Amino acid sequence: MTIRPSLAQDRPEWFRMRRALWPDCSPERHLLEIEQLIAGEGRNVVLVAVRDGGGLCGFAELSIRRDHVDGASAVPVAYLEGWYVDADVRRHGVGRRLLQAAEKWAADRGLKELASDAELNNQGSIEAHVSCGFTETCRAVHFIKPIGLHRDDGAMA
Ligand SMILES: CC(C)(COP(=O)(O)OP(=O)(O)OC[C@H]1O[C@@H](n2cnc3c(N)ncnc32)[C@H](O)[C@@H]1OP(=O)(O)O)[C@@H](O)C(=O)NCCC(=O)NCCS
Repeated sequence: MTIRPSLAQDRPEWFRMRRALWPDCSPERHLLEIEQLIAGEGRNVVLVAVRDGGGLCGFAELSIRRDHVDGASAVPVAYLEGWYVDADVRRHGVGRRLLQAAEKWAADRGLKELASDAELNNQGSIEAHVSCGFTETCRAVHFIKPIGLHRDDGAMA
């Protein structure tokens, strides 16, 4: 297994793995985000894990965030936007190797910290983060509300 930055030929497998990681995101949205990530080369990177026999088995999407990141001691900070390993090879060190490559990418750009997040109910991911050296900083529930559609008492305007 090897880790390297993604290439154009990786797109179908990257798309497959993205859909496995974020099944609620539409295929169109995945394709848009893939295009945006490719266009943003330099500000972000996608690292992939390649099986010995060929084909991919994992990826890490990294960005450099310049706005506030909870728990980060400074900005800009490297951010692990996506971290995924195919189920058949989990718990064999692939995720850790993706993170090591991610840290090197960030360190090469002078960044001092790598930030990340996980869903509150994704206990496996939370434990994997901690095992790989992350410290939990806070827990949050995010909200959004359309503006102007509802009165404060909940009735339709
Ligand atoms: C999280 C994920 C990327 C980890 O990849 P992986 O290849 O299985 O991780 P590794 O084998 O390198 O394990 C790294 C460390 O995390 C631990 N770990 C991994 N998965 C774990 C789990 N489900 N529960 C508890 N610990 C776990 C390992 O034991 C290891 O620690 P150790 O070396 O001290 O034993 C992978 O499980 C995955 O893709 N999960 C589904 C998608 C997901 O939730 N991604 C994260 C979104 S925030």
